[in-house]
Amino acid sequence: IQADIPSLKDVPSFDVGAAIARAQTLGEHGKLLTKHFDSVTPGNALKWDATEPREGEFTFAESDHLVDYATEHGLKFRGHTLAWHSQTPDWVFKDGDRSLTATPEDKALLLRRLESHVRAVVGRYKGRIQTWDVVNEVVDENQPDGMRRSPWFEVTGYDFIRTAFRVAHEVDPAAKLVLNDYNTELPRKRQAFFELVRKLKAEGVPVDAVGHQLHVNIEQPPASEIEKTIELFAGLGVDQQVTELDVSVYTDFVSSYTTVPAEVLAQQGYRYKEIFDVFRRQASHLSSVTVWGLADDGTWLSSFPITRLNPPLLFDDELQAKPAYWGVADPA
Ligand code: XIL
Repeated sequence: IQADIPSLKDVPSFDVGAAIARAQTLGEHGKLLTKHFDSVTPGNALKWDATEPREGEFTFAESDHLVDYATEHGLKFRGHTLAWHSQTPDWVFKDGDRSLTATPEDKALLLRRLESHVRAVVGRYKGRIQTWDVVNEVVDENQPDGMRRSPWFEVTGYDFIRTAFRVAHEVDPAAKLVLNDYNTELPRKRQAFFELVRKLKAEGVPVDAVGHQLHVNIEQPPASEIEKTIELFAGLGVDQQVTELDVSVYTDFVSSYTTVPAEVLAQQGYRYKEIFDVFRRQASHLSSVTVWGLADDGTWLSSFPITRLNPPLLFDDELQAKPAYWGVADPA
């Protein structure tokens, strides 16, 4: 790795984090991680399918490794995620072969499963995971009530959100609890998300922060819309975090390069700078900014939404600083 470039830890006012798996703790990747980052989020290791693949059977090998590594190296840890519609095993939403429905019995069963999952996972890492993405991606701005029709919502209504936050808070009262979502910088989604957070806060649900995933591309959405979102939520008095930032080099879901032109990587650098200029201006409302991967060799966008070359992060496949890195590190 490059020893002579400034650490991203010196970006003031908020923590800078990276999503990681075990591979990012080894060898040169580990050196890059500890040189530049204040915090980590496991990309997959704490999702339900990883931690409780069968009811009551918990598997913590990967997450234990990551939490131990972070503790040893002084990295803060963001837990991700306790209740989500994706990467959740089928058994969670079933009774034998039958899908759970909105009856009181099924609802009670699903909430019991959620409660025991949250108790086990949050309890295991109490005091070592400082922040939890408790609930992920529940907003659907195209529904009249703004709520995604996931099995969670179809069976329990809003109660899975209330239960997940209540139990997480009970198990680790010191942990910062986050409601996380994507596209929160788009006006209609922003508004639906805002209404939900306002409702939960008014009920006394212990939501400490909102998470903006911020999977964006080199052109869209405008930085001014990102700033509007941060300003809107600042009015609710909740902390905010950017939880999954990356900047796709594509503006649509079908293009693909065989090599990404240097001018596109330069454009990506200016785009990172423009976005971090917003973060710097809004730093009093933001406690952390996490990029969704340490380097381009570990990005999820090489297989989502299609398989293609897509380097969206700050360091390249050889762990060298890209223009994107300089857009973040050099505020001038
Ligand atoms: C992604 C992971 O990075 C991939 O490895 C996995 O195959 C799919 O999930 N929103 C989220 C993250 O909240 O958990 C997702 O992570 C990316 C979108």
